[in-house]
Amino acid sequence: MSHLEASNLYNVKGLVAVITGGGSGLGRTMALALATNGAARIFIIGRREGALKETVSLAPAAAKDSIIPVQGDVTSQESLRSAYDKIASQTDHVDLLIVNSGILGPPAIIKRKDDGSLLPISELKDYLWNIPMAEFTKVFEVNTTGAYYTAIAFLPLLDAANKRRAAPEKNKLSPPLAQIIMTSSIAGYSRRVPFDFAYNLSKGAVNHLVKALSTSLTDYQIRVNGIAPGLYMSEMSVGTNFEEGNKGVSDGSFDPEKIPITRAGGEEDIAGLVLWMAGASGGYLNGNITVTDGGRLSVLQSSY
Ligand SMILES: NC(=O)c1ccc[n+]([C@@H]2O[C@H](COP(=O)([O-])OP(=O)(O)OC[C@H]3O[C@@H](n4cnc5c(N)ncnc54)[C@H](OP(=O)(O)O)[C@@H]3O)[C@@H](O)[C@H]2O)c1
Repeated sequence: MSHLEASNLYNVKGLVAVITGGGSGLGRTMALALATNGAARIFIIGRREGALKETVSLAPAAAKDSIIPVQGDVTSQESLRSAYDKIASQTDHVDLLIVNSGILGPPAIIKRKDDGSLLPISELKDYLWNIPMAEFTKVFEVNTTGAYYTAIAFLPLLDAANKRRAAPEKNKLSPPLAQIIMTSSIAGYSRRVPFDFAYNLSKGAVNHLVKALSTSLTDYQIRVNGIAPGLYMSEMSVGTNFEEGNKGVSDGSFDPEKIPITRAGGEEDIAGLVLWMAGASGGYLNGNITVTDGGRLSVLQSSY
């Protein structure tokens, strides 16, 4: 087999992964993509046991045993420690940690009236002020603090993956170094965007965390990368974004002024991205954040 064949470039056979938020949405698709393509073990963490088990039930028969639910809450150090211990009792290393859990939090944008005119400043103030500070902070607890502590919790198992690598051979690429992938969002990049303040700020912090951790872990050779999705259908994004039963993935589903490619991201988009990043093809990525949004970030400033 040539080293340039797709089956080598995107090969995840034997990989051991941990995914937070693997019981739904993007995390579920990532888990199924890794399982379908031969990853040895994919530990999925989330608070709802039923949702985690549903992910297992969706895997192809031959791959069901490779997805292992681990109940856990990323906002609790105790819970993260317990999840780590459960996983460490079943594997001596983790090649890939996908820090993906997230919440949207309270809606809070600079609203306008139906006719497009500005809200009186007192109404705007009341609307934004009436969101309790605790609800705002909760978004950071999950999206930012939780992401940071999840990464820290798994450092020993990631390091153990690096220690298993064979000595380098001259003029030959070694297998990829251990990697953390954080799910951020295009909301973390923009200034005047139709997302909510707490969510935007928390994801801006995740983008920074990817860079800061990647730099800080250089000496340990643990790579840290990010993905910044635009609109994908999930529990988080249903409601105003998607009509009942419509995933919005067919061309023409969205106005090009909102999403230039005119559709939401599909399972293939996120699955392919993860295989690219996890396989030999992604081995040179470090401190990189990949945007997957059909061009939405490029037009956000004009599509308020
Ligand atoms: N869908 C999009 O359009 C989109 C766009 C940009 C970025 N993202 C990001 O993608 C990631 C996945 O979101 P999604 O769209 O797939 O939405 P989702 O289906 O709502 O998934 C979020 C996951 O996070 C988990 N979670 C929430 N709080 C948690 C906690 N305290 N501890 C552990 N797990 C927790 C949830 O599981 P439990 O409730 O069972 O704990 C759930 O499985 C998020 O970081 C989100 O910000 C999504």
